[in-house]
Amino acid sequence: MSDPIYRPAQLGGVHSLGGTEGRAHCLQHRHLCFERKDATDLGFARRFDVVTSARTLQWIAEVADAISNMARAAKHDGLVVVLDYNHSLNEWAPNPPPQFLDFYQAFLRWRHSNGWDNAMGNSLPALFTTAGLIDIQISSQDEVCTRGDQGFSVKTALWSEVIDNVGSALQMSGFCDSVLLADARRAYEHWRERSLMKQVLSMTAVVGRVHLPS
Ligand SMILES: C[S@@+](CC[C@H](N)C(=O)[O-])C[C@H]1O[C@@H](n2cnc3c(N)ncnc32)[C@H](O)[C@@H]1O
Repeated sequence: MSDPIYRPAQLGGVHSLGGTEGRAHCLQHRHLCFERKDATDLGFARRFDVVTSARTLQWIAEVADAISNMARAAKHDGLVVVLDYNHSLNEWAPNPPPQFLDFYQAFLRWRHSNGWDNAMGNSLPALFTTAGLIDIQISSQDEVCTRGDQGFSVKTALWSEVIDNVGSALQMSGFCDSVLLADARRAYEHWRERSLMKQVLSMTAVVGRVHLPS
C-alpha cells in the first residue's frame, strides 16, 4: 500500500457494511473513515489502493458508470474488487414448489424491468474491460448451503426475507399480486423446513487493476 492510512470509499455508506455486525467491527478500527456516496456519483480521483463493493452493483442500473467511478477512485496500480450475484443461476435441490418459482420468476422480471442485471457477477469481466481495467481475474464464489450445515436455517430464510422486503414493490409494479406473495411465502417456508437439502447462490468475484498511461 502506498498510502500509510488506508481510507476506503465505502459504497452506500455505513449502511452497506453488512448490518450491525459489520458496523460494530468497523468501529473498532478508529483509523478508518466513512463517507456516504452513490456509486454512480462517487467523485473520488486516484485516492485509494483498493476500491471494492460486495453485492451492491446488482441494484444499480447505471452499472458501467459505477465501475468507471470505482476505477477512477483507485490509484495507478490500484485494484477494483467486486463480488456480485447471478440471480438467474441460483439453484435449489430438490426443486422448489411452483408457488415459490412463480414468485422467483416475477422477481427476475421485476429486476430486469428496473435495469438490474440478473447475472451481474458474470457481466463484471466485460464491464471491467470497458472501464479500462487490466489483469482481470475471475473467481466463482458460489455460496453453497447444505442441510446440516451451520447457518442453514438463517441462510435459507433469505428468500422469505426477500418476499417480505421487495414483495410489495413487485406488487405495486404489477409483477404479482398479494395472493401470489402469500402462497409463495407459505409454500417456501413449508418446503425449506421439511424438504430443502441444498441452496446454491451463484456469485462471481472479479479483480481488475488500474493502469494509467505514463
Ligand atoms: C445486499 S446489500 C450488501 C451490503 C454489503 N456490501 C454486504 O455484502 O453485506 C446492498 C447494498 O447496496 C447499497 N446500494 C444500493 N444502491 C447503491 C448505490 N447506487 N450506491 C451505493 N450503494 C448502493 C445499499 O445501500 C445496500 O447497503
